Amino acid sequence: MVHCALSNRSAQRTGPQTPAMKPASILIVEDEKLIRDTLRRRLTRDDHRVQEADRGDRALDLVSNNAFEVVLLDYRLPDTDGLAVLRKIKSLYPDMVVIIMTAFSSVSIAVEAIRMGASDFVTKPFNMDEIVVSIEKALEAQRLREEVSRLRTEEGQHYGFDALLGESPVMMRLKGMIRSVTSVPSGTVLLQGPSGVGKDLIAKIIHYNSPRAKMPFVNITCTAIAESLLESELFGHERGAFTDAREQKKGLVEIADGGTIFLDEIGDMPLSLQAKLLRFLEERKFRRVGGTVDLSVDVRVISATNRMIGELVATGAFREDLFYRLNSVPIMVPPLKDRQGDIELLAVHFAKSFSAQFRRPSPPALTPEALERIRQYHWPGNVRELRNVMERAVLLGAGDLIRPEDLSIGGDGLTPPSASVSGVAALIGEKGVDLQEVERQLVEEAMRRTGGNQTRAARLLHISRDQLRYRLEKFGLLGKGSQAEG
Ligand SMILES: Nc1ncnc2c1ncn2[C@@H]1O[C@H](COP(=O)(O)OP(=O)(O)OP(=O)(O)O)[C@@H](O)[C@H]1O
Ligand SMILES: [Mg+2]
Repeated sequence: MVHCALSNRSAQRTGPQTPAMKPASILIVEDEKLIRDTLRRRLTRDDHRVQEADRGDRALDLVSNNAFEVVLLDYRLPDTDGLAVLRKIKSLYPDMVVIIMTAFSSVSIAVEAIRMGASDFVTKPFNMDEIVVSIEKALEAQRLREEVSRLRTEEGQHYGFDALLGESPVMMRLKGMIRSVTSVPSGTVLLQGPSGVGKDLIAKIIHYNSPRAKMPFVNITCTAIAESLLESELFGHERGAFTDAREQKKGLVEIADGGTIFLDEIGDMPLSLQAKLLRFLEERKFRRVGGTVDLSVDVRVISATNRMIGELVATGAFREDLFYRLNSVPIMVPPLKDRQGDIELLAVHFAKSFSAQFRRPSPPALTPEALERIRQYHWPGNVRELRNVMERAVLLGAGDLIRPEDLSIGGDGLTPPSASVSGVAALIGEKGVDLQEVERQLVEEAMRRTGGNQTRAARLLHISRDQLRYRLEKFGLLGKGSQAEG
């Protein structure tokens, strides 16, 4: 990373052609004095701090003793060529912005320079604005890269191994497995388990504790995207590949390059795409939609499903060969009711964390009756449901105790919906009934029962996930106990 003590002398005094750009520290490497002078005059006018070198060796001296942000590097130098200097600079300071200048436009030099890490390439004679724009773009790209890396580190801090709570024997075994897959950079992991058990969380923990942590974690929920768009979302498309493809677009596997791609709800991936995913996993190669060349990337694939994938394979809805590919490291995450010891621990943890979040003076304790209630209930929505129940209890509960009546958990958790047809009919009283309100309540109830899982709530209501999302937005229920899925 290149740091530079910038003078704040007069950031406001920028030349009329130049949009506001923070002054930078720039090295001009150029043997022709006239060009050097012209560049220096223009750049100092924009308040940049400029130093000059007329040879490659002097340039390298200066680079090692100063914190430049940008190097403007002539391709033809008296003692060496620009690419050799570029290579040296990049080996010392991989993040430094280097812009190559050359008198002749040669595609092969340009390609080579960019491959070696040059930010841009300008051919002489150039006009000054061209150089200024090039510097500005390179600095902006640099700033964005630094910002992304900072955010990624910050995000990663939430996903240490200790983010996964639980001390039950099942959980301890699970944690051991997670640690061992984390240490290998590319094992393909399949997470299986019902909704709300922590599959997303585990995928992130694997990524953020692996050698890939500084690279992207990209998540795609196979059910959240229309089947016709899924392939282009995943593998990208070339311009003109289909009617709406006005631009070339990178797919998520390309965006994830170096990092991890998390394919959520893989059990719902259409068969046509399964074949392409299989090829990608086998050969690490893919084509953009409408593309004719094979591209390759280095990503770890983690997939997850809450459906019985074995059954899907048996019925032919899921390719067996793909299943084996995805399942090289199988991780089964059991439902919460099978981890009795963890229920109480998680409940207490969520009570604590929500009371801190809502700025309560102290976390409420659960009464013995409330604890009993929590232990008895069978938690169909698993940890997500428990989390939501505790959030509500802390938010709505008054005092420093959580009693059974503060826990909004339904019946014995086994009772089917109470709204039988005659029950619904009875809703229409003398004054009629607000149909919208009934709908709102049903949507809310479906979300509650599924612990906020939109896919499952939509299934309960026999509507599509898009139709559900539309209603959640309409009723202002988004974010209220709903899980952000894609
Ligand atoms: N062991 C755990 N410790 C702490 N928090 C957990 C644990 N397991 C799950 N959670 C939390 O519960 C919520 C639901 O978990 P997550 O989204 O990972 O479930 P999931 O298995 O991916 O569900 P779905 O199949 O519906 O996508 C998240 O807020 C997650 O952080
Ligand atoms: Mg999930």
